[in-house]
Amino acid sequence: MYICICNALTENSVRATARSEGGGTSPGKVYHRLGCAPQCGMCLKRAREIVREEMQTLSLARTAG
Ligand code: FES
Repeated sequence: MYICICNALTENSVRATARSEGGGTSPGKVYHRLGCAPQCGMCLKRAREIVREEMQTLSLARTAG
């Protein structure tokens, strides 16, 4: 599903890129890594949630060993 219409970014691509950053990332860094930048900003709330979820998943995986 597309979360960013301006840049044609899918939720899956944002999730995968956030995960590959390995922590301490942000929507801006993820978008930059995908070769774009936020335009209208309508997607940023959802992008922040996705990045936060992926960082929490990485953190839990590290704690679990
Ligand atoms: S929908 Fe993502 S910048 Fe406009």
